Amino acid sequence: MSKITIEGGRRLSGELAIHGAKNAVLPILAGTLLTGRSVIHNCPALSDVTAACNILTYLGCAAHREGGSIVIESDALTCCDIPDGLMREMRSSVVFLGAVIARCGSARVSLPGGCELGPRPIDLHLSSLRKLGVEILEDHGYLNCSVPEQLRGASISLPFPSVGATENIILAACMAKGDTVISNAAREPEIEDLASFLKTAGADIHIKENGTIYISGVEKLHPVEYSVIPDRIEAATYLCCAAITGGEIRLRDVIPEHLTSVYPVLEEAGCTVQTDQSSIRLTSLERPRPIRMVRTMPYPGFPTDAQSPLMALSSIASGTSVYVENIFESRYKHAGELARMGARIKVEGRVAVVEGVDKLHGATVVCTDLRGGASLCTAALAAQGVSEITHIHHIERGYQDFEKNLSSLGAVVKRI
Ligand code: UD1
Repeated sequence: MSKITIEGGRRLSGELAIHGAKNAVLPILAGTLLTGRSVIHNCPALSDVTAACNILTYLGCAAHREGGSIVIESDALTCCDIPDGLMREMRSSVVFLGAVIARCGSARVSLPGGCELGPRPIDLHLSSLRKLGVEILEDHGYLNCSVPEQLRGASISLPFPSVGATENIILAACMAKGDTVISNAAREPEIEDLASFLKTAGADIHIKENGTIYISGVEKLHPVEYSVIPDRIEAATYLCCAAITGGEIRLRDVIPEHLTSVYPVLEEAGCTVQTDQSSIRLTSLERPRPIRMVRTMPYPGFPTDAQSPLMALSSIASGTSVYVENIFESRYKHAGELARMGARIKVEGRVAVVEGVDKLHGATVVCTDLRGGASLCTAALAAQGVSEITHIHHIERGYQDFEKNLSSLGAVVKRI
C-alpha cells in the first residue's frame, strides 16, 4: 500500500494551476447518459472519476480519456442497474440514479451505506424522485425504481439544500413532462455547472439568485462539448498548505469568487489574499493567528470540505480557534490523527476547540477520509521532522498530482 512521507519545515512558495472540480465532473458524467455523445474537458485524473467512468462503461457507454478530456458515447445502453461493487467504489455514485431513471425509465442500484463522514441518508433524493413520478421499492439493500407512466414535473421544496439531491432532481427533471420548481435547492457552484452542462445540451433550466431552480422538461438533449469549472476545494487546500508554512502561493485557473467565504477566515489567520479574474495570491505570517469561529454552512457559507485543511492551520496558531461543523455528523476524525503530531484539539459533538501549539512534530498518521487526509498532509508540511501518511487512497479520490504539486512549491515529499 502506498504512503506519503513529508519532511516538514520548508516554506512553500510558487505557483500552481488548479484542476477541474471533482464534485462538478461526477454529476456531469452521470448527465452524459442523457446527451448521446459528450466531450468533457478539464476532467481531473482522480480515482472517483475513474469509478464514474467504470459505471458508464458497465451501463454500456464507451468512455475514454484523451489527456484532460473524457469522451463518452452513450447512445447504446445495455442495462439500467448498477451493481453493489461499483456503487461502493464511490459514495456519490447515487447521483447516477436520477440520470439512469431519466434515460431508461427504471433503475436498480444498491443502497449507499454510511461512510467516513457518518451516516449518509438519501431520503431527500428518494422523496424528490417519488414526486417526479418514480416508484421506489427497497429490496434486500437494493433500490428498484420504475416509472409507471412518465417522469412528470413537480414542485419540490427541500428541507435542507442537499447537493446530491438537487443534482438528482435536475437530472431526472430535465427530460420530464412539464415544469419542475426546486425551492431551497443547493447553491454550490457545482450545481450551476451541472445546469450549464445540461443547458449546453439543450435543457431548459433557470437558477434564481435565491436558490430556486426552474426546469422545463425537454424531449431530447443533444451531443455536447463542455469544460468543467475549477476545483475550489483543491484551491482552498493549497492555500492552507502555503499558509501553514508561512509561505506564499499563486493559484491559476480558478474562479476566485467561488472561495469568497474562505478569504475572511484566512485573513483572520493573518494571511493576505489578493484575487484577480482567474487567480488567487496568498502571502502569510510566520505563525498563523487563531480564528474566533469557523462555521461550516451550505454555499455560499464556509465549505465543510475546507474545514479539515484549515484546522491543521489553526493547530499551530498563536491562540485558540473554534470550529462548528453544521453539514456532516462525523467530520472531525482527522482531529485524533492531528493529535499524534502534537495538536491540541477537543471535540464535543459538532464543536472542535483547537488550542494552537508552538510546534507540531512528525508522526505516522492514517488518512481517515479525503479532506481529513489533506489536513494531515497540511499539518505535516509544518511539523518538525518526518511524517508518514498512510491510507492515501483517500487523497487520490480528490487531489490530482498532490505530491508533485507540493514538491514544485518546495516541499520535501515522497510517495513510497
Ligand atoms: C456533496 C459533496 C461533498 C460536500 C457536500 C456538502 C459531491 C460528490 N460531494 O456531498 O464533497 O462535502 O456536498 O457541501 O458533490 N442529507 C440527508 N438526506 C439526504 C441527503 C443529504 O439527510 O437525502 C444530509 C447528509 O447526511 C449531510 C447533509 O445532508 O449531513 C449534506 O449532504 P449533501 O449536501 O447531500 O452532500 P453530498 O451531495 O453527499
